[in-house]
Amino acid sequence: MTLNNDPLWYKNAIFYELHIRSFCDSNGDGKGDLLGIVSKLDYIKELGVDCLWLLPMMPSPLLDDGYDVADYYNIHPDYGTIEDFKLLVDEAHQRGLRVITDLVLNHTSDQHPWFVESRKSKDNPYRDYYVWSDTDEKYKGVRIIFTDTEPSNWTYDETTEQFYWHRFYASQPDLNYDNPVVADKMIEVVRYWLDMGIDGFRADAVPYLFEREGTSCENLPETHTYLQRVRAAMEAYPGTIMLGEANMWPDELRPYFRGDPNDPSVPGDEFHMAFHFPVMPRIFKGLRLGEATDIINIMRDTPDIPYNCQWCVFLRNHDELTLEMVTEEDRQLMWNEYAPDPTMRLNLGIRRRLAPLLDNDRRKVALANAILFSLPGAPIIYYGDEIGMGDNISLFDRNGVRTPMQWTDDETAGFSDTTPDKFWASLIADETYGYQRINVATQQNQDDSLLALMKHFVAVRKANPVLGWGTCEFIDLDNTAILAYHRAHEAEQLLIVCNLSDTPQMVTLPLADVVGQTPTDVLTEESLGVVDAVEYGMTLEPYQYHWLRFE
Ligand code: NOJ
Repeated sequence: MTLNNDPLWYKNAIFYELHIRSFCDSNGDGKGDLLGIVSKLDYIKELGVDCLWLLPMMPSPLLDDGYDVADYYNIHPDYGTIEDFKLLVDEAHQRGLRVITDLVLNHTSDQHPWFVESRKSKDNPYRDYYVWSDTDEKYKGVRIIFTDTEPSNWTYDETTEQFYWHRFYASQPDLNYDNPVVADKMIEVVRYWLDMGIDGFRADAVPYLFEREGTSCENLPETHTYLQRVRAAMEAYPGTIMLGEANMWPDELRPYFRGDPNDPSVPGDEFHMAFHFPVMPRIFKGLRLGEATDIINIMRDTPDIPYNCQWCVFLRNHDELTLEMVTEEDRQLMWNEYAPDPTMRLNLGIRRRLAPLLDNDRRKVALANAILFSLPGAPIIYYGDEIGMGDNISLFDRNGVRTPMQWTDDETAGFSDTTPDKFWASLIADETYGYQRINVATQQNQDDSLLALMKHFVAVRKANPVLGWGTCEFIDLDNTAILAYHRAHEAEQLLIVCNLSDTPQMVTLPLADVVGQTPTDVLTEESLGVVDAVEYGMTLEPYQYHWLRFE
């Protein structure tokens, strides 16, 4: 098998995000690596996903788990070699799986040779690779992202008695994109990895590339112009994509696609894909309150995008569940509901995994995924969530949601040949989420496991391309515990109906267009009663959902 050559493959793709350090250790050093991933490609293939997203893999002091790059042209020695990487890409491609990697454009590690030079003296040739200032008064009011640890976006550097600019940890100085040499060098990095045969990038922290006085220093026109340059460079590599990480409101995200949704002759020419951040916390809020309104409102606020662009939707990832895109009131509500213990909170978010967030309640986990897989956009599965792994909030920073993958119930959880005391992070071993109970091997043998259900979602989603391509109309209902939306593409249609609440709900759906037809749930192949009037009544059990086809 090889890759299909559909240039729009990402429209209906499913992504699998994985943390190399935690997935599988091939050489017994207690840290996952690239060859470990190679050994698990058949598992990933069987899950049915289309594309892997690898978290940062370049040499790094790992003060931000690799988002602090010290060398853009190599692989972190813990993870393997460039040869291993080429093998991984090749083996993935042979199985029809694509591979995208993280691309950190905004900043480097302070141990990157450019910064080591830059901080030496004011006339060092690398000085202008970064953003220096005599005062920390410039760009006043620009928000701090890592609010728990960083008192300022400026850090004083004694050697030259100036401050340098950083939007994340002080160990991650921002590159200076006003310096054309820097701008060019990062395009070279892009080409280097694309030449290696990868299928694109998850572009990290893209809103922050440029700084301008009197602005928020976010989403600036200069930043868009540069990203269009990156995109233009990618055009030489057909079928590659840029998935942008911009944690912004929908109307701020829209310009990252450009193009004209109403005119196919004006396709998008910046990002191919962007994460839809704001819908994610609203799914959790909706499930907690049994209330669909916020999900509907944010999706209605989401602008149309050109035909060659796509959203990426997700429930959890390697970071805290971010609450940046909610009101202050909702943030408090989400913290109270989902992070009652303050150590579960981090910056403006919640550092917990999907299963524990949803009380390990199979009905809620299933419903959250039923929504994820049927909303507009390509869904992402975060490694371990397909088996319902737990978290360990006693670990530093976001490591609690990045623990070793649980493959088997033996002492090492099948993660490594070495003993667990040598693992880079301890295994989850508690009674509920421990590897002894929650692991791939056990679930592979159970027809009713979460893993089996996730495979089913993936397969049914793939069998219904309307979910990747279709329009989405939300239906206004008197019963706001019910979330209902209609997906349509050419002759294909699906009606999604979900009960977000923990009690049975009756709902009357306006189905004038399908009177005389019989709805069948494509997930269960079960038929519901024929639609005999324009108003169709049904009752849904707590957290029940249907994906309905009419015939
Ligand atoms: C976003 C990444 O997802 C996060 O893990 C990282 O800390 C920041 N960008 C900084 O690179």
